[in-house]
Amino acid sequence: MKLIEPSNNFHVIDEPLDAIDVIRQRSVSGNVDEEPLYLCDISDIINKHAIWKRSMPRVLPFYAVKCNDSPIVLQTLATLGTGFDCASKGEIAMVMNYGVAPQSIIYANPTKPISHLKFAAEMNVSVMTVDSEFELLKIKKHYPDAKLILRIRCDAKVSQCPLGEKYGCNPDTEAPELIDLAMSLGLKVIGISFHVGSGCMDPPVYAKAIQAARKLFDFAASVGYHFTLLDIGGGFPGDKDTDINEIASIVNRSIDLHFPSSDDVTIIAEPGRFYVSSAYTLACRVHSKREIHQNGKFKSVYYYINDGVYGSFNCNLYDHKIVYPITLKATDEELFKSTIWGPTCDALDQVCENVSLPQLNIDDFIIFENMGAYTIPIASPFNGFPLPKVEYYVQRKHLEDINATTASHEYILLRGN
Ligand SMILES: Cc1ncc(COP(=O)(O)O)c(C=O)c1O
Repeated sequence: MKLIEPSNNFHVIDEPLDAIDVIRQRSVSGNVDEEPLYLCDISDIINKHAIWKRSMPRVLPFYAVKCNDSPIVLQTLATLGTGFDCASKGEIAMVMNYGVAPQSIIYANPTKPISHLKFAAEMNVSVMTVDSEFELLKIKKHYPDAKLILRIRCDAKVSQCPLGEKYGCNPDTEAPELIDLAMSLGLKVIGISFHVGSGCMDPPVYAKAIQAARKLFDFAASVGYHFTLLDIGGGFPGDKDTDINEIASIVNRSIDLHFPSSDDVTIIAEPGRFYVSSAYTLACRVHSKREIHQNGKFKSVYYYINDGVYGSFNCNLYDHKIVYPITLKATDEELFKSTIWGPTCDALDQVCENVSLPQLNIDDFIIFENMGAYTIPIASPFNGFPLPKVEYYVQRKHLEDINATTASHEYILLRGN
């Protein structure tokens, strides 16, 4: 399957990408645009998939499209054979356009507009999450053959983006009632899902949630269901200085305890940021500068750059991310208290406040790593500032592997379907 052709914005390289070095070389040669630029390392995504398979061999990843819906990222993951977590008709259409089979898609939005539900039915995307009585009744009416996964709430003590306030029924009180109701409606419920919160900082919560799911598998069996799918959601970190080792060892231990491999239960997850965060490095440039003085004394320096919170740094607001600026200056230069602003006229458009930076000049670069998750799909060109371009890089050995791959869609949700 030949999916990636080298082109102007797609570079094949022989060594691992050093994004900061590429930006440094551009800066020296003067070969730079005024616009912000992402360098996306596709080999990093391919390495992440290998790490996932090694770390949690029993858990099949269904990539959460919402996190970064770049066509190249989606095609890479489709070729690697991951499944996909889609939240809407648009996301389902997007991944199916790359040849992804309906059985490799979970419609993981517990609240579905009717037209999106009907589209899922037309496309044969039958596995979907629910967490309320109203959703069960809606599905009974519009897609009675759907295969339902009941989403329960089990929140991490600390996470970057908690989700439990919005989604997930109470596993002790509401879930058994919903299972009973589904049974009385003749609906097909096939398993349990949860999402502990995105950017989970409480690894033991996975053990708690898996145990709660086990209880509900047993309850469902007592009323006549035979559950076959456990979906452990997202929450896995993806930045350069993080790993999934602790979460993986807790998950592996819990699934071996509660869902031994002799069971006919398929276990999936919906990782988003794990796959893409570290793959993207954003190169911004200073286009304006101002020194702030108070009582005649230097207070700080303001830099205005070509991307801001209405663009990529929407992640500061929506993803509660703290970003760290990197410059191309020598490390021994004197540092000054600095604030970085985005390009729009809005004072909310602040990228970082009171950070220590060397003196920068107009056109100098400020670089941000770990910018691949929950940035590009949410960004807007507010105030007429264009969104960053993306250049993709892949190591030749990976491109050859990927282009030689024929066995796509390794991960099928429903056995025998
Ligand atoms: C239903 C669902 N699944 C998966 C994800 C991806 O989560 P993460 O990026 O933490 O892996 C999200 C994120 O919000 C989500 O809402």
